[in-house]
Amino acid sequence: MDRRQFHRWARAAAWSLALAPWQEPTWAQTASERNWKTAPFQLGVASGSVRHDSVVIWTRLLVSDEDRQALAGDGLSGRYEIYADESLRRLVQRGEWRTDATRAHSVHVAVSGLLPARSYWYRFVCGDAISPVGRTQTAPSSDAEVARLRLALASCQHFEHGQYVAHRDMARQDLDLVVFVGDYIYENSNPRNRVRSHRGPEPKTLTEYRDHYAQYKSDPDLQASHAAHPWLLMWDDHEVVNDYANQTDPARTDPAVFLARRAAAYRAYFEHQPVRLGPDPASPYAASMRLHSRLHWGRLADLWTLDCRQYRDPQACPDPVRGGGRVVLQCAELSQPQRSMLGADQEQWLYAGLQRSQRQWKLLAQSTIISSTRIDSPLGKITYTDGWDGYPMARRRLIDAIGEARLNDVVTLGGDVHMNVASVLRPEPNDTHSAPVASEFVTTSISSRGMADSLLSAIKGSNPDLMHARSDERGYTLLDFNAKQATVEFRNTPHSAGTSDLLKVQARFAVESGRVGPQAA
Ligand SMILES: [Fe+2]
Repeated sequence: MDRRQFHRWARAAAWSLALAPWQEPTWAQTASERNWKTAPFQLGVASGSVRHDSVVIWTRLLVSDEDRQALAGDGLSGRYEIYADESLRRLVQRGEWRTDATRAHSVHVAVSGLLPARSYWYRFVCGDAISPVGRTQTAPSSDAEVARLRLALASCQHFEHGQYVAHRDMARQDLDLVVFVGDYIYENSNPRNRVRSHRGPEPKTLTEYRDHYAQYKSDPDLQASHAAHPWLLMWDDHEVVNDYANQTDPARTDPAVFLARRAAAYRAYFEHQPVRLGPDPASPYAASMRLHSRLHWGRLADLWTLDCRQYRDPQACPDPVRGGGRVVLQCAELSQPQRSMLGADQEQWLYAGLQRSQRQWKLLAQSTIISSTRIDSPLGKITYTDGWDGYPMARRRLIDAIGEARLNDVVTLGGDVHMNVASVLRPEPNDTHSAPVASEFVTTSISSRGMADSLLSAIKGSNPDLMHARSDERGYTLLDFNAKQATVEFRNTPHSAGTSDLLKVQARFAVESGRVGPQAA
């Protein structure tokens, strides 16, 4: 190893330790001479957190009982390799990683020193075991003229509700990024819609969340999608528990107890995703984890991911018994001006970034739907309190921040509601006197069941801003941005119960640069 190689190795090793700071591992055995009884790379590989010179590559080794007994300690080390070509002939970087049981044998390497806007292929080696090969890609330099940005937008993949045929389709696409906006796992179970079953109970402990992720990550189509493209990740509620808000859960568990559960869920999330930062051990109960981010895509786009769960105020006017989100008719709390979906710090960070943005497209990826889905009734508007409708003043601040900065080409991207939506965002939703400031696209679920047609009809009837809204199909959304326009394609299948279902185009839209709003294409 020459000096440069050593520095590179030391930096990588420091990174992989810095990424998971909670405990020093025990280095009882190096893995170079290990002979595995059971192949350990069963959960595939993944990459993400892309920058112009760096990506995070990830894997988690599953250590069988037999292999565990053969280990003198619980530490493992191995090698990662980065290649410039798919046939793995041109090695551009290699280094060491270490892991152990305190991080569920997960491996995060922040690979640096890469060239901008390039594809790379990577794999992990441990003894006689070699991982599958993944492809990743760096972002362009922040000042580069870039011809395009091609994304897949996805969310909501209840393992029991369907097969991941959408991921298989995604893996075959030519993409720069997969943007996943939440509900990667579901903690809950519903026998009514089951095509396959969760293995364990509803996760509450670190071990249970780890086992849950291991089951989801065992799906070959999900693995293919991760191996084919880098992912940009945001979570929603089901990564912890349905309808949680900041430090409160619907069951109104003592916050100290709930925060311990949240900490376990966040830690397991980090252990299973190619993200740069783990839970912050200095935060109360080590329960905080920063996931929101902004990515420059050359001069073409700024792409924000926004955390709508960790910092929000609790849902307004909750049911005294059930807690969480609900449908309300009258609720004065909804219009309290200080209520926030993103929390004050994230709001200020976002608005300052929007005002300063020099890129053409301003893309805001967040967990749910910003457009109104309130339903008119003789007694007033029926409001579901868990989404942005439940935080109308925060929504108004967001839309005003876009309008007051006179920003063009703002597109919001969402999920959560298990339906495809194309719409516009105005300061006053559905009021044609209120000029629209942004276009919104929401993707349906990968597998989670959608709402009934009767409910969707009522929502559409009350919200003319929703140009397109369909909850009957599963899939994902392809978005292609260039200097002139964005094209958007909803790719879907009526149900995803079969592993061989194929996706078809449900609808196509375009957004022209300088003109707000989706147009049928
Ligand atoms: Fe969902």
